[in-house]
Parts: sequence; structure tokens; C-alpha cells
Amino acid sequence: MNQNIYAVVSKLTEIALALSAEKNKNKLFDLILMGARELTHAEAGTLYIVEGDYLKFEIIHNETLKISTLNQGQFPSIPLKENGQNNDRMIAAYVANHRKTVNLADAYQAEGFDFSGTRAFDEKNRYHSESFLTVPLINHEDNVIGVLQLINAKDEAGKTRPFSQEEQLLTEALSSEAAVALTNQQLIYGLKVMFESLTRVIAEAIDEKSPITGKHCKRVPIIAHMLAVAVGKSEPARKFTDDQIYELDIAALLHDCGKVTTPVHIVEKGHKLQTIIDRINLIETRFEIIYRDKIIEGNLADLPKIKEKFISDINFLRESNLGKESMSDEALKRIDEIAVLSWKDLSGQLHPLITDDEKYNLRILKGTLNPEERKIIENHVSMTLRMLSQIPYPKYLKDVTEIAGSHHEKINGNGYPRHLKGPQMSEQAKILAIADVFEALTAPDRPYKEVMNLSKAIAIMSSMGKEGHIDPHLWEIFLKEKVYLEYGKEYLKEEQLDIV
Ligand SMILES: [Fe+2]
Ligand SMILES: [Fe+2]
Repeated sequence: MNQNIYAVVSKLTEIALALSAEKNKNKLFDLILMGARELTHAEAGTLYIVEGDYLKFEIIHNETLKISTLNQGQFPSIPLKENGQNNDRMIAAYVANHRKTVNLADAYQAEGFDFSGTRAFDEKNRYHSESFLTVPLINHEDNVIGVLQLINAKDEAGKTRPFSQEEQLLTEALSSEAAVALTNQQLIYGLKVMFESLTRVIAEAIDEKSPITGKHCKRVPIIAHMLAVAVGKSEPARKFTDDQIYELDIAALLHDCGKVTTPVHIVEKGHKLQTIIDRINLIETRFEIIYRDKIIEGNLADLPKIKEKFISDINFLRESNLGKESMSDEALKRIDEIAVLSWKDLSGQLHPLITDDEKYNLRILKGTLNPEERKIIENHVSMTLRMLSQIPYPKYLKDVTEIAGSHHEKINGNGYPRHLKGPQMSEQAKILAIADVFEALTAPDRPYKEVMNLSKAIAIMSSMGKEGHIDPHLWEIFLKEKVYLEYGKEYLKEEQLDIV
């Protein structure tokens, strides 16, 4: 071996260490090719990765031509098979299919392989490809995952020479290191993609479960992400790392996952009397029964008056049932008065026109939820906390539970469920809390709800900032960096964009 053995071993070790540490796929490709070229004094090289039945051209180096580039589609993939047979014409496919190295002193003199692509490349670039060392990348599971091709080994005078036997052995050793590193990288990346897809599936399921909240779980992450990026733009010293932003993305996708446990009829409660069905129809039917009994009893003279009153009562109850306006004392009294009426069943037994539970719900002062139902809705955050805390996260996602589970906390400590105060919340949690409210206010696709303009949403949230509901400083950045507009232009209706 004409290379200093110590230098070679330390180079190999250095490359192996770098390979196992590198997380970025493209940098890994570069590292492998660079390392192999250094070991063999090769002027040029290419790395292919197996993708289905093809060898995908990933990266090319050529020192003379000053090329060092990832394949952005300019180089086509090589088919491993042709008409069901091994594609043995192409040297890279041959090496992958037969799992063995091919070492050629001069490609132009070699027989059996199709080098027309190389010739065309040489002609176009006024280059001369001569010696070729093509090695399969075989991983620890004995799978061929790629092919490494080195071109034009150079002697000390800079003249092209064949690759030596030692260089072939070294390259083969490096290739198996590289194959393991690439496989690990693919596995880690695959798991990451799978976990992210799972979180998206959960978010989608929650959105699907409650059409009343539109695409909330899909859109909150978009707003949170935009605000997190805006923080870095506005104050470079507070810029979040990529990992921190990714952690926020995942937390935002999962923030309402606890809603899987919330009964649909409560999540979806659009009217006060709604359970699985809207009980206003039952009450109307009972009115009918009472009225028909009056006809049967034969007090015909009073009927028009009774009919008129019943119709007016039904209309009043229908209106109250919507929960659009808050209930006045007068309205509450009227419900009690109507509830006094009763109807008779087949066995002659009397029942109230409005049951106690119906009365309780109709008397809800504001909105459609009674206090118990409100508790159940609020419980979704506790469920989010409980569910997410059971996931064993990798280090870069360790705060997902904390971030997701704090989205209803307020800076002043009046939020839920843990009544955290500002200093107890992470910056990411505060961002998520803002995104959650902003999406809810501006959602353009919620039934029972009028579409709100940006100016109104911003006015509401600005006063929330002053009252300590949301972080005023982050809210300022939201405004200053025009996050509302960046989001609004893509996701809101044109008519909502009343400030530019
Ligand atoms: Fe929530
Ligand atoms: Fe939410």
C-alpha cells in the first residue's frame, strides 16, 4: 500500500464518525462522495440511491469541471431492469444487480457496458472520463441501497491512472459504512415522517368530528408557525431554532387532540335544547297535544286565543333556543310561565310541557352551553395533557405536551386548566395560545357564526393583550410583522381583509 497506513485509517475513522453524526440527507450524500474521492484521489464521482426499480442519481462531483451539485432533475434515473431482465448494459445497474464492484482502467476501451451517456457528457463538457471504480452500497441488512461511482484516479503528477486494488478495498469499506449511515438516516427520517403523518391524521379527525369548528386543527399550526418565524425576523436575538419551530408545529397539530373524548353533541351543541336531537321539536309536539286536547274537550270559543298564544310561545322558545342573545329577566320569567303547562299521555298521566332539564337549558343566559357542558368542553385540554404526556418523545419534541396543553392558559393566570401565569408558560405555548384565538375568531367556515373581519378580530385581540389574556409583546410582533395578512391572504375570504 503506497499510502501512509496511519493517514488512511485516520481518514476512514474521521469519515465514519462524520457519517454517523450527520442528520441532513444531502450533506450525508456529499460527505460520502467527498470521503471516497479523498481516499482514492478521484477527480470525479457520482452517488446513486436505489428507489424502487431505479437508481436515483443523487449527487455529482467533478473537480476539473467545478461541478458539485445535487441532482435537481437534470440527470435521469437508471432503470435496474429492462423488459424484466437485469439492465446489465449500464455499469451502475450491473453493480447494483450483481452486488459486485467493477474496476475499469479505461471506460473507452472496456467492453460489455454502454458508456454512451458518459461519452455524451464528455463531449459536451470537453472532459475525458477514463478510469472508473463502481461499488455497491450494501447495508447491514444485506440490501443494496445505492451505488458509488468514482472517476479518474490521479497520480501525484495529476495524470489519470487506474484505481488500485487497495483503493478498491478502501472504497468498499467506506461504502458499507456509508450504507449503514444512509439506512439509519432513512429509518430516522421515515419514523419522523410517520409520526408527523399520525399527528396530521389526528388533527384531521378532530376537525372532521366537529364541523362547527371548521378546519381549526389544520389552521392553528399554520398561524403559530408564521408567528414563530416572525419573532425571529422582528428580534433576531429571540429567533427560534428549526427544532423549536418543528416542536411548535407538532404541538399545534395536536393541541385539541383531547377533543376525541368530548361527546359530539356537546362539541357540536349549536342550540340550547340540543342533545343528540334538538328537543325544541318535542316541545312543539307537546304544544300540539295540549291544543288538540282542548279541541276534544270542546271549549271551542277559547280556541283562537289559545292558538295565538301557543304560536307566540313557540316562536319565543325557538328564538331563545338559538342562544344568540342574552336572556333578560323578563324572558326567564316567561319560560317559567310557559313551563307550567302540562300534557296528558295515553294512561291519563300529566307531564310538564317543558321538563326541568329543558328549562335549565333554555334559561342559559349566554350562548348554548350550560355550566356542566362548559366544563366538559374545557376538559379537552386536560385530556390533551393526559394523552400527550404518554408519548415517549425524542429530545427535540420533549416540550410538545407542555406547549399543547397550555393553549387555554392566560398570561394573567385566569386560563385553564392549570391557571398558569405568563412566566410559567414557554414562548411557544404563548404563540400557540394566540394562534388558537385568532383562528377561532377569523374562521371563515363555521356554521352558526358570522364571518369576522380582520379589523374586528384584531381589535378584540388587542384588548385581550391589554387585559392579560394573551402575551402583549408577541401580539405586537403579530401586528408589526403583519402575520394576520400573510395568513389572511391565503386562508381567509377576500371580504375579511379590511386592513392591509
Ligand atoms: Fe382548545
Ligand atoms: Fe383550539
